[in-house]
Amino acid sequence: MRAEVATFLLEEALEAHRSLDYGRLTGRAVVLPQEPGQVNSSTDSLRPMDSAAWNERYSGQELLWSREPNRFVAEVAGALPAGRAADLACGEGRNAIWLAARGWKVVGVDFSAAALERARLLAAQAGVEVEWIEANLTSYEQVPSSLDLVIFSYLHLPADSMRAILVRACSWLAPGGLLMLIGHARRNIEQGVGGPQEPSLLYEPDEVVSWLDGLEVERAENVFREVGTDEGTRRAIDTLVTAKRSA
Ligand SMILES: C[S@@+](CC[C@H](N)C(=O)[O-])C[C@H]1O[C@@H](n2cnc3c(N)ncnc32)[C@H](O)[C@@H]1O
Repeated sequence: MRAEVATFLLEEALEAHRSLDYGRLTGRAVVLPQEPGQVNSSTDSLRPMDSAAWNERYSGQELLWSREPNRFVAEVAGALPAGRAADLACGEGRNAIWLAARGWKVVGVDFSAAALERARLLAAQAGVEVEWIEANLTSYEQVPSSLDLVIFSYLHLPADSMRAILVRACSWLAPGGLLMLIGHARRNIEQGVGGPQEPSLLYEPDEVVSWLDGLEVERAENVFREVGTDEGTRRAIDTLVTAKRSA
């Protein structure tokens, strides 16, 4: 390891320790800023992980992700008035907790009991209330037209499952409600850095748009994150889609 990389990693580790953001300590070369992946990288198997595998992954001492919301969630949702939101595949709840702290009434859904246990703890530490629901999104249901905001942050399932979940989520939006999806772009494999390496679990903006039902698309684009690596700063490529149900 080069000296400057070692120094960079040490600074990151200290910063993460100071903020108790242990998720940042889990990377190898890629340490900053880390966003979730969703393949079974421990075995190099590139299939989506089931709830048992996610529970295993969440069973360590450290946070897998960060306490802070995803930057794109903060950018998009930060511009909206508080209302009723669902954070689907919420993991440790960083986005749901951030929304609740801003006055949103939030439900966080994930099929990992271990993730939700952490989310409950983090919400209590933050002094906010979120309704946490342990459920598989392939069968989870919400009241139609009941939500002002639906968030998907780094959920990566095969296209058929993603499409089915998104179509149902569209129907949960109230008139004027917004659906936001952020995830790793497929072209990140060739042109970006980090993230899952299985193309069938990744998506480009046009593909996500084709999965939406009856919404007006506002944004459908690739967005970029700077990531520190052994080779210096590189650019990770994400897909961001936001779409509204007409009022
Ligand atoms: C990469 S993490 C992202 C967590 C969170 N959204 C974030 O951005 O910090 C993916 C999450 O999706 C959850 N997940 C994957 N498939 C799911 C499914 N079918 N139903 C519910 N949760 C699922 C996992 O348990 C995991 O917490």
